[in-house]
Amino acid sequence: MNHCKQDAPDERNVLDTTGQGVIGAPLPRPESLLKVTGAATYASEYEAEGCLEGVLATLPAVRARNLTIDDSKAMAMPGVVAVISDKRMTGRAAQGMADEAPFQPAQEVCYWGQPVALVVAETFEQARDAAKHLVFDYDAEDAPLDPEAAETETDDSTTQGDLAHAMAEAAHSVDVTFTTEGHASAAMEPHAAMAQWDGNKLTVHASLQMLKFNRNELADALGLEKEQVHLLSPFVGGGFGSKLGISQECVAASLAAMQLERPVRVVMSRQQVFQTIMRRSETHQRVRLAADAEGKLTGFGHEARVSNLPGEDFAEPVIQSSEFLYAGENRLLRLDLARVHRMTAGSVRAPGEAVGVQTVEQAMDMLAEKVGIDPVELRLRNIPETHPSEDKPFSSRKLAECLREGAKAFGWEARPRAPRHTCEGEWWIGTGMASGARVHAVEEAKARVTLQPDGTALVESDMTDIGTGTYAILGQIAGEMLGLSPDDIEVRLGDTDLPPGSGSGGSFGAPSCGSAVFLACEGLRDDLAKRLGIAAGDFTLKDGTVKWDGGEKSLVDLLDSKPLEQVGHFEPGKSTEEMAVSSFGAFFAEVAVNRWTGETRVRRMTGAFGIGRVLNARTARSQCLGGMTWCIGNALTESLLFDPVDGHLVNCDLAEYHVPVHRDVPDLEVLLLEERDAAASPIQAKGVGELGLCGGAGAIANAIYDACGARVFAYPMSPDKVL
Ligand code: MOS
Repeated sequence: MNHCKQDAPDERNVLDTTGQGVIGAPLPRPESLLKVTGAATYASEYEAEGCLEGVLATLPAVRARNLTIDDSKAMAMPGVVAVISDKRMTGRAAQGMADEAPFQPAQEVCYWGQPVALVVAETFEQARDAAKHLVFDYDAEDAPLDPEAAETETDDSTTQGDLAHAMAEAAHSVDVTFTTEGHASAAMEPHAAMAQWDGNKLTVHASLQMLKFNRNELADALGLEKEQVHLLSPFVGGGFGSKLGISQECVAASLAAMQLERPVRVVMSRQQVFQTIMRRSETHQRVRLAADAEGKLTGFGHEARVSNLPGEDFAEPVIQSSEFLYAGENRLLRLDLARVHRMTAGSVRAPGEAVGVQTVEQAMDMLAEKVGIDPVELRLRNIPETHPSEDKPFSSRKLAECLREGAKAFGWEARPRAPRHTCEGEWWIGTGMASGARVHAVEEAKARVTLQPDGTALVESDMTDIGTGTYAILGQIAGEMLGLSPDDIEVRLGDTDLPPGSGSGGSFGAPSCGSAVFLACEGLRDDLAKRLGIAAGDFTLKDGTVKWDGGEKSLVDLLDSKPLEQVGHFEPGKSTEEMAVSSFGAFFAEVAVNRWTGETRVRRMTGAFGIGRVLNARTARSQCLGGMTWCIGNALTESLLFDPVDGHLVNCDLAEYHVPVHRDVPDLEVLLLEERDAAASPIQAKGVGELGLCGGAGAIANAIYDACGARVFAYPMSPDKVL
């Protein structure tokens, strides 16, 4: 075991001294062929003899008490084996972030579309049909549906100095209110689980992001020991937060398998995923900026109201990056939480910044116009030296470089904004920019690396690859450290029988689990040095050959037919607490706004990002492209629409909930500005997964203003709002 609790910046740089050039190389994903040929097996595709199919039945009410279910009709239908209604199954989707995450059984029905029963049949069609023949009896009750009218409580706040006074004294000020609508994770693969019970042990093929937590949650929900639960999730068709915690399909399939002693598969319909799995809360935000005559911020205010179900802990952390992105000695940041009966709100794609940075960036654009300076220049003038409200330095921060390099690559014309300067046919053309920021997080992780007698290596962890490129980067880290081609390294993931990794979430997967692999390899290098009787580090390991002062030997000879194994154990320590660690970026967008219809098309976009060490230039770029694509949806089309009368979600499929499609996404340019951050993680990498969608929608909003003169304060900026 090579353990590191990172209490200080870790300045080791073994990765560089091995000189392989494997880390950072834009290598393709090793599993890509499996995926594009359909050979990669996803949760719902596993076969088991005698597997039954389960379909969740949901209730059309936002609040129901005294529920009884008459299943006599359904049970008499062909192929139906059981109707199971168990409170454990109807519970909420957990957040999955706490070690002992308690699974909450539902005491009452509290949102529209909540699953209340599982119908199990020999075929999917039989189960689906029978689910429609359940008869529900319940007392429907009214419940608060409108966040605007609901009771609120304060979740988080920071006050420093006197913002009101700063606003009154300011040479220039902006005070503006925004709204953003709810978002769905909208992962391509719906939530699915296939459970098998052998009388003592439960095996579940599922689509999950955080296996070591998910295992605890499932054990907890079912009253099992965690050793009795085996989860497998080697391929995940997107998560975006929606699979951080276990959901009803996992619990329902498991309960049914245990009760019926046959394998049971439960796949949520697309509508059920939308109605049941967590949402990003809608937000109401007020941004206040006070500045002197030169545009230097003297006051900064960001207050937001979000919503969640009664009793739920999570509050969309809208103000998270406002804590440190810009200066301003008088500060007021506040987050309020309203209690409404919509499906639970949780982590969806960069929780907080994905909706919190863009509004600040719109306000900054307005301030630049008032001061009469270029918007890039305004940002540069307001980058704080140290964390503005806590006494700590930034670990690394390429914000200014991202702003400058991004502007250069985009061909940004430095000037104050002047709407309607360019018209092409019936389209107004404009450009806009925004800064980007996303907090950095790390999570405890273990990984095992084995040098095989044939000179190849095996990397193992219960870590997941949710489409992010984990298989690729973990192989690269091991390749770099062990002097092997990534082709000689096999990476096995997504199995709770393997050492517990970090899971994929909060952009912490690569820095955390990557560091565990790094530490394991470092342990192996020490072991090799011991075998040679030389000091650790006194050798090179390249192309399967060990060379030291006085000799060389092939790795195969050195291993002498015996495998060598090490477990790397990374634990976050004080290093990420004592410094402000965050990823930064800048976005530049060009849009065309139709002067008659108000339709906005993004014509091009450039993003420049500082993400610490780049582990794979191709997969890192893809993460940024994905984020920027979400910016387009966030800015222009994505919105969960709830019926104000009965509270049901109206648009619960991909035809009605509009994520960007190919036609909506132009060429996107990504610049990765290499930096090393020894405080962020032992491998000097910061988070990349979510940064690409933190602020970019603001660049699009500002470009709309520059094109046609419309300041739109309500997201998404659909044609009716732009006109
Ligand atoms: Mo993320 S929204 O923590 O998958």
